[in-house]
Amino acid sequence: MQNLRKSIVNVGVRNKKLTRSIAVNSTITDPAENIQLKSWQEIPGPSSLPFIGQLFHFLPGGSLSDDLKIPETLYRTYGPIVRIDGILGSPPVIFFIDAETTGHILRSENWLPSRPGFHTLAHFRKMIKYKDTPHLPTGLLTDEGELWKSFRSTVNPILLQPKTIKLYTNILNEVADDTIKRWRSKRNDNNMIDGKFDVEVNLWALESIGVVALGGRLNCLDPSLLDDSPARRLIQNVHDVFVMSEKLDFRPSLWRYIATPNYKKAMKCYAEQLNLSKYFINKAIEQNKNKVGENKDEKGVLEKLLEIDERVATIMAGDMLFAGVDTTANAMIATLYFLAKNQEKQDKLRDEINNSSMERKPYLKACLKEAMRMMPVVGGNLRKTTKEYSVMGYKIPKDMYVTFLHQFLSNLEEHYPRPKEYIPERWVAEKTDPLYHGNAHSFAYSPFGFGVRSCIGRRIAELEMETFLGKVIKNFKLEWTGGTLKKRISALNYIIGPFNFIFKDV
Ligand code: HEM
Repeated sequence: MQNLRKSIVNVGVRNKKLTRSIAVNSTITDPAENIQLKSWQEIPGPSSLPFIGQLFHFLPGGSLSDDLKIPETLYRTYGPIVRIDGILGSPPVIFFIDAETTGHILRSENWLPSRPGFHTLAHFRKMIKYKDTPHLPTGLLTDEGELWKSFRSTVNPILLQPKTIKLYTNILNEVADDTIKRWRSKRNDNNMIDGKFDVEVNLWALESIGVVALGGRLNCLDPSLLDDSPARRLIQNVHDVFVMSEKLDFRPSLWRYIATPNYKKAMKCYAEQLNLSKYFINKAIEQNKNKVGENKDEKGVLEKLLEIDERVATIMAGDMLFAGVDTTANAMIATLYFLAKNQEKQDKLRDEINNSSMERKPYLKACLKEAMRMMPVVGGNLRKTTKEYSVMGYKIPKDMYVTFLHQFLSNLEEHYPRPKEYIPERWVAEKTDPLYHGNAHSFAYSPFGFGVRSCIGRRIAELEMETFLGKVIKNFKLEWTGGTLKKRISALNYIIGPFNFIFKDV
């Protein structure tokens, strides 16, 4: 996962060699297409000054100083392919704002795609925790190439198996009920939730992914949770891990050269995450010991991972906690916001929830999809090219950082008519309807990424969010007061306060 400006500044110094080895202004002919290809260095992009390069554009007052407007400004000023030079020693990144080219590259990469990102976590797992077993995988977020493939093919059949994920329906319902109960008790006289609403949603998300990753309830919604309890420590740890990764992986840092205080803190956090995962997994093993003669089909994710081995289960639990809390929480807040602002859609959703006996809830799914179209949690997909490309008249070398800005595309009129309006109907419309979602280019909407490297938690996230959204809308009439919702772009698109939700009883 990545964002725009941070990824520009922070993808690190790894591509320095590449930058030097490419001939400046070289014009290459693509024999297959018989056209003159320009060097990637000729791709349009912001102007540069000696020493500081393009940096001044990103500083206060610069044309790219507003994170939220960077894609729009890049597209309007430079077009669908933009070059951002390395800043302060970081490598250059090519931005693609074109669905067709995005599809072409992502499809061609679809063998062993490389997605750089979580360098400190990779460092911890490869150089510290598992340094004695370099031939074994360390996880989906930290491995590349054959090691990644071996881990992914081991866990894919477990985490993407609909039957296995469905086993969590009841327990996720329980988690949702408990969250609703908690929110009721936290409402003030104005029907607003006291305290930090984003923390509340994060607790729901952690409790939900916890039942899958750690095999049981963490009880983090329990108001009497003791400060030094393992669950409380895990809540803190999940938060710290993200903060540390953001500071070190997504901002300039000297950690590669010296052990900075943040580096030391990050290593501690990552160790604590695996230790806490182990603690909860052992607890689940203990609790399950007495269950005998179980039907194999009824085994959950953790039990199946443990059948492979404890290391795989612990690593996967760590990755699920890392990638599965802030993501679902922010997607949920965005959906609640759009429904609070669009009462008619909310009423229609409530009708479906209350009146449909069907297990399938097409409008509910459409409400989530539409929120992720307008405000995806991850605004672009990042890859490091595994081969050379000839696209849009340019030669893109192997090992180049490329980012595909799907959030910008999914908000364009040419793909989704009336893009600024929240219209869940487009996801259930007939083909003949001009709003029909299938008229958009298939690479214009990509909230869970693409291909073999796409989100492994997608089915889990969808079940969690569908379950919870159904409960919230059944129990509360949601309203929003005040200005528009605010976002902060970082490793993810974070929604930040004030959270002006009003939760009235239905
Ligand atoms: C709304 C919720 C979520 C969104 C929007 C989301 C989005 C994404 C995206 C965009 C990627 C990168 C895909 C690519 O590079 O093509 C990704 C990867 C990943 N996600 Fe999610 N995610 C969500 C929830 C979850 C959950 C609940 C889990 C926990 C199981 C999870 C675990 C992962 C992992 C482990 C990867 C790395 C996969 C790999 O590299 O093989 N995600 N996610």
